[in-house]
Amino acid sequence: MYLSETVKRYLRATGPTHDEIQAEMAAHAEEEGFPIIGPDAGGLLRAIATMRGARRVFEFGSGFGYSAYWFLEGMPDDGEIILTEFDEDELAMAEDFFERAGFADRATFEYGDAMETIERYDGEFDVVLVDHQKDRYADAFETIRDQLPVGSVVVADNMIRGPIDVEDLLAYFESGEVLPDDESTRGVADYIGTVRADEAFDTTLVPVGSGLALTTRVEP
Ligand SMILES: C[S@@+](CC[C@H](N)C(=O)[O-])C[C@H]1O[C@@H](n2cnc3c(N)ncnc32)[C@H](O)[C@@H]1O
Repeated sequence: MYLSETVKRYLRATGPTHDEIQAEMAAHAEEEGFPIIGPDAGGLLRAIATMRGARRVFEFGSGFGYSAYWFLEGMPDDGEIILTEFDEDELAMAEDFFERAGFADRATFEYGDAMETIERYDGEFDVVLVDHQKDRYADAFETIRDQLPVGSVVVADNMIRGPIDVEDLLAYFESGEVLPDDESTRGVADYIGTVRADEAFDTTLVPVGSGLALTTRVEP
């Protein structure tokens, strides 16, 4: 799972690059120590949006809009993304970045708890990003499950890095060891268990960025 320094540099030297605004966003994240998904995972979000022809995307936990920006790059001009964030300052920053990029009219900025916001949205989603509190990932999936048509994709971040312990996750999934009392690691384990147990979906973990779980609906 851990990539060598050589492979990391190789991926960065050949991977997706930032435009001017994304570079500003990434510099801000670096300065503040804010956990954005980064360009390699961002490039994958953009590719998923393009492959799916995604017209409607929902994010649980948008920060200041970095991941949403990558989605929009892969979405058609009439596509819509819903950003959710319970930190007002982060969301205001997202609005500002999106206005400058000419993306604001394709985005809805929802201030508040994402788990409450989703209750106000009917209809289907092409792609969903789950990147908020780790102990609420499985709930987010269950909440949105019936709004996911065949071919839609749920992407969940922090499967191998972040506020989680990958060694503990390995011991749990490989040998059935008990997880320590850490709500984020337990939340990720619960999420992986939930999506893998659902026969209408296929799940693959991809070790890009902090590790993404791609969960695709394959049956109605
Ligand atoms: C890891 S960051 C998101 C980064 C973003 N997806 C990106 O890559 O640019 C998680 C964000 O989710 C927000 N958050 C966490 N739980 C939330 C919730 N229940 N509702 C809304 N926002 C939440 C946090 O305030 C934080 O800004």
